[in-house]
Amino acid sequence: MQAPKIVSSWWSPRLVILAIVGAVAVALLAGCGAVDTPQTALFPRSDNNQVINDLFAPLTWLAIVIFVLVQGLLMYSVYRFRVRDDDDSIPPQVHGNTRLEIAWTLAPSIVVVIMLILTYQAMAQIEAAPPDDALRVRVVGHQWWWEVHYLDHDVVTANEIHIPIDRAVYFELESNDVIHSFWVPRLMGKRDLMPGSTNTIWFTPSEEGLYAAQCAEYCGTAHAQMRFHVVVESETAFNNWLAKQQEPAAEMTGDAAEGASLFISRACVTCHTIRGTDSIGTIGPDLTHVASRAYLAGGIMENTPANVSDWLSDPQGLKPGNKMILPVELSSEDIRLLTAYIRALR
Ligand code: CUA
Repeated sequence: MQAPKIVSSWWSPRLVILAIVGAVAVALLAGCGAVDTPQTALFPRSDNNQVINDLFAPLTWLAIVIFVLVQGLLMYSVYRFRVRDDDDSIPPQVHGNTRLEIAWTLAPSIVVVIMLILTYQAMAQIEAAPPDDALRVRVVGHQWWWEVHYLDHDVVTANEIHIPIDRAVYFELESNDVIHSFWVPRLMGKRDLMPGSTNTIWFTPSEEGLYAAQCAEYCGTAHAQMRFHVVVESETAFNNWLAKQQEPAAEMTGDAAEGASLFISRACVTCHTIRGTDSIGTIGPDLTHVASRAYLAGGIMENTPANVSDWLSDPQGLKPGNKMILPVELSSEDIRLLTAYIRALR
């Protein structure tokens, strides 16, 4: 008796093509759900980021056209010249066709030249010298936080960079340890912070707001928690902020004053600077006006009393590997007083 024939009639070339087109469409459309997100680079809010986006868009469309053309031809050929039961002849061969070979050498070359010209135009704009009145800010990367110096204003802060709208800001980027990468997706492309040399980048922000940003180069255990924020604000608001940052720490009273004494008597003093006090450590962030910042601990959590308290209780649990290692665990009363102090450093 003959074995039953296995029939594989559930698929056909048309079905496979349909499945591929469907999968590609789903993948593309899935991206449309959340386009205007805080970390998107597709909706630029600065002049130079706009230049990058204006380069990205035509290159992407060019790639899409080429992709569709090449894959379309491929799929057409696979389908059109498939093996048929009633015909075992070989389709026409084009090997050695000089005209075709010249065409498919010339066409990609032209595409590459177009890409080269567009890219050089964009590079010339973003690598040009910044305007003379640009605000100069030096950013030093540390494992895993950002030290921020306003070079013309004697201001040092951390993890939050205030800049005025419609004025160019020129960043000098350095590293204290390993390679980091400075990235504010909506304001500018990435640029590395290299130990032993200075990289620069500049842009002019065009819309006020709080911009999420982060380190974009793997730099060790807490790389993912090396975040920061850029605050773009009106010139008046920026000048007020700058004036406030230039002041030494405020005089403390009550719990905050007790917290200030604790800060000096405990290990805190060895790592942090609080201008106007005896605390002049430089291993960790300058805390002179830490309460004025929106986020804590390298941008990982909002600056609320509860979060300050949680951070003081367990910095290693919240950000494993960071350099804030408490030699002696703080009592809950110590944490309460230190939190009062930190929150008063406006
Ligand atoms: Cu710094 Cu990743």
